[in-house]
Amino acid sequence: METKQLGKTSVFVSAIGLGGMPMSIYNRPPESKSISVIHQALDLGVTFIDTADSYCKDESDKHHNERLIHQALATYKGDVSHVVVATKGGLMRPDGNWTRNGNPEHLRQTIRVSFEALGGNKPIDVWQYHSPDPNYTIEESLAPVKEAVEAGLIRFVGVSNFSVEQIQRARDVVDIVSVQNQYSPWQRQPETDGVLKYCEQEGLTFLPWSPFGGSRRHHSLQDIPAIATLAKEKGVSVYNIVLAWLRSKSPAILPIPGASQISSIEDSVRAINVKLSQEEVQKIDRATLTS
Ligand SMILES: NC(=O)c1ccc[n+]([C@@H]2O[C@H](COP(=O)([O-])OP(=O)(O)OC[C@H]3O[C@@H](n4cnc5c(N)ncnc54)[C@H](OP(=O)(O)O)[C@@H]3O)[C@@H](O)[C@H]2O)c1
Repeated sequence: METKQLGKTSVFVSAIGLGGMPMSIYNRPPESKSISVIHQALDLGVTFIDTADSYCKDESDKHHNERLIHQALATYKGDVSHVVVATKGGLMRPDGNWTRNGNPEHLRQTIRVSFEALGGNKPIDVWQYHSPDPNYTIEESLAPVKEAVEAGLIRFVGVSNFSVEQIQRARDVVDIVSVQNQYSPWQRQPETDGVLKYCEQEGLTFLPWSPFGGSRRHHSLQDIPAIATLAKEKGVSVYNIVLAWLRSKSPAILPIPGASQISSIEDSVRAINVKLSQEEVQKIDRATLTS
C-alpha cells in the first residue's frame, strides 16, 4: 500500500484510511462483523483509522467506536505497532443528536476516557478537536489538549471543521498535524475557502470526511453521469473514481472512506491504483459544480 507522511512528522500511514463511523452509529452491524471489517482493512495494508468519542448511538454508549477499534487491533494476528488511530473529542450525543461541547473540563475528561478506551498503554496517536464550539475560544478549548500532550496522553493533535483563521489560532496553542473537513462531490468548499491550499503549503495532512456524501447519500454517486461514465470506462466503481478525484486534488489529501462491510473497504483500497488525467478531473469538477 502506498504511504503518506502524517503532517511533517516522521510517521507514514497508508494513503487511504478507514473511517470508523458507520460501524458505531445507527444501523450498525454486530461488533463481530465490524471487527472483521477492520481486520480486512489491516490485511489490505490500511494503517490509518479515523474514529471519535462520539461515534456511538447516544451518550450512554459513548466511546463505542474507539473500544471497537481497540478490540480489533488487540485481536489482530499481525503487527499493529505501525497503525495510527486518529480519534476526536468535542461533540456530544444526547438522545442520539449531535451537539458541540468545547468546555475545557469536558475535553480534559473525554481525552482521559479516549486514552483508556484505546487501550490505555500508549499515547493516543492523533487526537482531533471535532468542531469548534462558539461558547469557548479556541485557545480555551485547546488548553487541556496541550496539557494532555505534555502529560503523554496524546502524541499528535489535529483539528476538524476549522477555517484557515481557526487553524492558525490552534497552531499558536499546540502543534497541529492534520485538518479534517467535509469534502465530496457535493461539498467542495475546501477548494475555495483556502483550507486545502493552506494545508498543502504548511505540510498538514488534509482528511476529507464523508468523501461519498455519507451513509445516506453514497448511493447517489451513480446519478452523477461524469462519475458513472468514467467508472464504466475504467471498469472500476464510482467510489474508486471519487477517491482518485480527491487524491488528484492535492498531495496533502488522505481520504478516510467509511465502511461497515468488508466489500466496501476492499473496493475502496483499490482506488490506490486508479489515476485520472487532468481532463477527467475537470470533467468531474464541471459535473459536480452543478449536480
Ligand atoms: N470530522 C467530522 O465532522 C466527520 C463527519 C462525518 C464523518 N467523519 C469521518 O469520515 C469518515 C467517512 O465519512 P462517512 O463514513 O460519513 O461517509 P462516506 O465515507 O462518504 O460513506 C460511507 C458509506 O459509503 C459506503 N461505502 C464506502 N465505500 C464503499 C465502496 N467502495 N463501495 C460501496 N459502498 C461503499 C459505506 O457502506 P457500508 O456501510 O455498507 O460499508 C458507508 O456506509 C467517517 O467514517 C468518519 O470517520 C468525520
